[in-house]
Amino acid sequence: MHRFRRAVDHLPAAIGEIRRGAGFPVAAAFLVLALPFYTQLRAQEPAAPAEPAGPATYAGDEICQACHEDIFKAFERNPHRVLERVKARGWEGRNCESCHGPGSKHAESVSAEDIQNPARLPASRASEICLKCHLQQPFQVSRNHSPHARNGVSCAGCHSIHKPGPGGAPAGFAPRKPAAVNAQCMECHTAAWAQFQRPHAHRLAQGAMSCTDCHNPHGSLLANSIKAVRGNEPACLGCHGDKRGPFVFEHAPVRLEGCGSCHEPHGSANPKMLTRAQVHLVCLECHSNLPTAGAGARGAMGGIPPAIHDLRTARYRNCTLCHVKVHGSHVNRALLR
Ligand code: HEC
Ligand code: HEC
Ligand code: HEC
Ligand code: HEC
Ligand code: HEC
Ligand code: HEC
Ligand code: HEC
Ligand code: HEC
Ligand code: HEC
Ligand code: HEC
Repeated sequence: MHRFRRAVDHLPAAIGEIRRGAGFPVAAAFLVLALPFYTQLRAQEPAAPAEPAGPATYAGDEICQACHEDIFKAFERNPHRVLERVKARGWEGRNCESCHGPGSKHAESVSAEDIQNPARLPASRASEICLKCHLQQPFQVSRNHSPHARNGVSCAGCHSIHKPGPGGAPAGFAPRKPAAVNAQCMECHTAAWAQFQRPHAHRLAQGAMSCTDCHNPHGSLLANSIKAVRGNEPACLGCHGDKRGPFVFEHAPVRLEGCGSCHEPHGSANPKMLTRAQVHLVCLECHSNLPTAGAGARGAMGGIPPAIHDLRTARYRNCTLCHVKVHGSHVNRALLR
């Protein structure tokens, strides 16, 4: 090994000779032979400074402050400061390390390798850090169903801890103003946002409502992460309580398929956010008089309108003119009153 070490020491000189063009064949042969050992030895060199022994320990916030003054200062207004103030939580003096993990090694080496940065971890690992404390909050009950958890969007993907969030949500806080929430969601969901620009839509574009009035971004047991109100009802009923029921005479799809079977809840080109331009086209999707195999007098999807319905006349095409209680009725089986 020492022989090679000496040979390697001559390497720069050999390169110099090649540059000068003198003794080219000799120098080149020397170079080809020595190069592997040269790189090998070089690779061994940085191991010289001794690694601090054992796992990292908690260094304390003041240590972090010494080098990350700006972040430390800004953190004064972060909601996570309560960890500092409430001794019972057990993070007194270790606020930074509550998320970044023990930092003694990093404080010595100043290497990014030695400190946990949620932004560089896989989403599920990053979220685990947060869930260490936030696991038991009720709005997280369905986090495993969340399309975000399943598609690599971590907590920090929506909650900016050190920088202000989209729509001006202060660093570390959840967005609260509807406009701030919408700004957050539209960053990734441009198609959904576009639907709210249609002529008949919930007023998100005007900042009167937000995506989280209907969705729980942390996941829900209902399809499409629809937020559950009063136990397990879809969020729509939180505002449109008159559609709730239970009605003496239900209109089956309202309860079973849900509002989305007739409405486009984000927004629609059609009045009342209906799925079709004219009301009767919505109804006839299920109440058509097309003969269906084995369905008998009643259609396969919904009842066939009785023969009095002459659909060639404009009068009978305006279904809700007579069937006014299309969401359910307390008095009339045919939803007329
Ligand atoms: C002696 C100065 C020093 C101290 C003390 C220090 N840091 Fe750092 N820290 C640095 C430097 C320099 C970097 C940038 C490293 C790089 O980019 O390679 C850094 C980077 C980081 C990063 C980002 C790592 C990444 O993946 O980019 C985090 C997180 C961090 N420090 C947290 C902490 C915490 C928490 C503490 C207190 C326990 C702390 N630092 C103490 C100097 C320090
Ligand atoms: C609630 C968890 C949490 C706490 C507490 C926390 N951080 Fe962070 N930190 C993060 C996350 C998440 C990131 C990744 C970037 C982001 O989302 O803002 C991060 C990134 C960083 C970075 C990398 C800088 C960058 O812009 O990429 C540094 C440095 C840092 N934190 C230092 C600190 C210091 C110093 C403290 C204490 C004053 C602290 N952190 C407290 C969660 C936290
Ligand atoms: C060591 C425990 C702990 C960890 C780890 C932690 N948090 Fe927190 N978090 C708290 C506490 C305590 C509060 C303040 C709760 C309160 O005010 O009631 C808080 C508040 C918040 C809030 C603010 C809620 C509001 O009022 O706007 C958000 C958002 C939040 N945390 C997200 C995160 C994210 C994202 C992570 C991971 C990067 C994380 N937290 C990691 C303990 C923690
Ligand atoms: C898709 C974006 C998104 C993701 C991912 C996300 N959140 Fe949230 N979070 C929000 C929004 C938006 C709010 C505001 C809630 C509202 O408007 O009802 C919020 C609210 C919160 C709150 C405050 C709740 C309250 O009402 O006091 C906490 C704490 C929180 N989130 C923690 C987390 C944690 C922990 C994770 C990861 C497991 C996470 N969030 C993942 C968007 C997200
Ligand atoms: C960082 C990007 C990102 C942000 C920010 C984001 N989402 Fe998502 N969202 C996704 C991805 C990825 C999926 C899964 C793929 C898909 O369905 O498009 C998803 C899916 C969804 C779904 C489909 C639900 C399901 O069960 O299939 C809903 C609803 C949703 N997001 C609502 C929201 C809301 C509300 C916000 C704002 C609070 C938000 N998202 C913010 C990336 C994001
Ligand atoms: C008025 C309630 C309501 C509001 C507000 C709302 N949504 Fe929805 N969203 C729904 C319903 C209901 C569905 C299921 C659609 C269906 O059944 O046809 C849905 C479906 C989705 C889906 C999955 C289906 C798809 O189109 O890919 C995404 C993603 C989504 N919403 C994102 C958002 C975002 C982002 C916002 C805010 C800009 C938002 N939603 C606001 C009610 C709402
Ligand atoms: C936060 C309250 C809120 C929630 C939740 C909500 N809506 Fe609405 N909805 C409204 C308001 C307010 C209006 C009236 C809007 C207007 O006049 O511009 C409205 C109007 C409507 C209209 C009638 C539009 C018209 O042109 O008359 C339909 C249909 C509708 N909502 C369906 C739904 C469905 C379906 C859901 C659930 C997916 C839902 N809404 C959830 C508040 C809400
Ligand atoms: C079977 C189809 C159908 C279903 C399912 C349905 N709707 Fe409707 N909805 C309609 C029709 C049709 C109109 C228009 C009535 C008219 O022409 O005046 C309407 C009108 C509305 C309106 C505006 C007028 C009013 O009555 O307030 C709201 C709000 C509404 N629906 C909410 C909902 C909600 C919330 C759900 C789910 C619980 C739902 N709808 C389910 C067919 C339906
Ligand atoms: C998604 C399918 C669907 C749509 C769209 C739909 N219905 Fe129905 N409707 C049904 C079903 C299913 C029943 C229950 C039939 C049964 O009990 O056999 C029903 C029942 C009825 C009844 C009561 C009759 C009975 O047999 O109990 C009337 C009236 C009615 N619908 C009118 C309408 C009108 C008006 C529209 C358009 C605004 C409409 N329906 C849209 C599926 C639908
Ligand atoms: C001019 C008023 C009027 C219009 C418009 C109208 N209907 Fe009817 N419909 C009735 C009456 C009245 C009955 C009850 C007949 C009975 O009890 O025998 C009825 C019964 C029904 C029934 C069966 C109810 C049952 O109890 O079996 C269905 C389904 C139905 N209509 C669907 C529709 C559809 C779909 C449209 C639009 C294409 C429509 N109706 C338009 C007046 C109307």
